[in-house]
Amino acid sequence: METKVEKLTRKFCGECVEIVRNGGLVSFPTETVYGLGADATNSAAVKKIFEVKGRPQDNPLIVHLADRKQIENFAVVSNDIERIIIKKCMPGPISLILHKRENISDVVTCGLSTVAIRIPINKTARKFIRATKLPICAPSANTSKRPSPTRAKDVLADMNGKIPAIIDGGSCKIGVESTVCKVENNMVYILRPGKFSAQALTKILKVPVVDKLNTAETKVAESPGTKYTHYCPKCEMILIKNDVVKNINTLYANFVSQGKKPIILCSKDTAKHLDGKDKVILGKTSEDACKNIFKTLRNVENDYDIILAEFIAKDDMQDALFNRMIKSASGRLV
Ligand code: TXA
Ligand code: MG
Repeated sequence: METKVEKLTRKFCGECVEIVRNGGLVSFPTETVYGLGADATNSAAVKKIFEVKGRPQDNPLIVHLADRKQIENFAVVSNDIERIIIKKCMPGPISLILHKRENISDVVTCGLSTVAIRIPINKTARKFIRATKLPICAPSANTSKRPSPTRAKDVLADMNGKIPAIIDGGSCKIGVESTVCKVENNMVYILRPGKFSAQALTKILKVPVVDKLNTAETKVAESPGTKYTHYCPKCEMILIKNDVVKNINTLYANFVSQGKKPIILCSKDTAKHLDGKDKVILGKTSEDACKNIFKTLRNVENDYDIILAEFIAKDDMQDALFNRMIKSASGRLV
């Protein structure tokens, strides 16, 4: 199958709408990462997503809509906190778990009674979704376990020949996936951290926000294991959190002496102390690093044996960043 990669012209939009309405898959840009979209009411179409990604059958998909008004057609909004999240955070980089209605395929939700609903703020995404007149379920458009795609060329690298169309919308602004959350007993639970942090949501919603993963993440950090492997580059990776300059220097020298080729991913500040070593600057803040992490992993993975990556804890996107980086490093933390 030929995979077309084009900007969203009127003509290409028409072609992509036809593909999805006929049960095919189209990759589209969002503000977070690229999605791999299908008609969420068509079980056969949704099954194709799991097949081309090699995605485990028990990991449900997010349903993307173009407008807030559509939410109640596919899900049940049952309390004021959910209403406020929808009003204040959507469209935006957030997915809200709600009770699902019958018209969403059970393949989307892996048989759960709930469905994650997201309205991207990216204009290309919404233009495409609106034109389909369908709810579009979409995971990130990477092969399962690989770093999420933040450029059309990353999608092509994983999906070439497997899907008919990729809508090229340039680089994703945020670079990590949406915050996944749910409301229970008048509290908001964050199931996956993203641009909307626990702190930001507390301020906006004025109710308790619990970051469910934070405790689990601490455990991952303490007991590294392959169980949490995801977003992995093709080469090895170690995440450096403590004594950053010292640890990077020591590890770099050790790997070189073993005949291996290391590369450092770090902040602008740290880079000043690492003269003469191969490195890529992720930016100054956690937000910068989120934007650059996945594409940098894909850029360097074929040319180096090991990635030494600094965890940049500079703003409230640090939870989202740590969550992705610790998984990319398969739990290897210094
Ligand atoms: O930013 C994003 O969310 C991107 C773009 C394409 O919108 N999509 C994305 O999808 O990251 P995916 O499939 O890679 O991640 C979906 C996450 C998974 O962690 C999944 O377990 C969770 O959402 N999820 C989906 N439906 C759920 C449900 N009903 N209950 C609990 N978790 C759910
Ligand atoms: Mg994903």
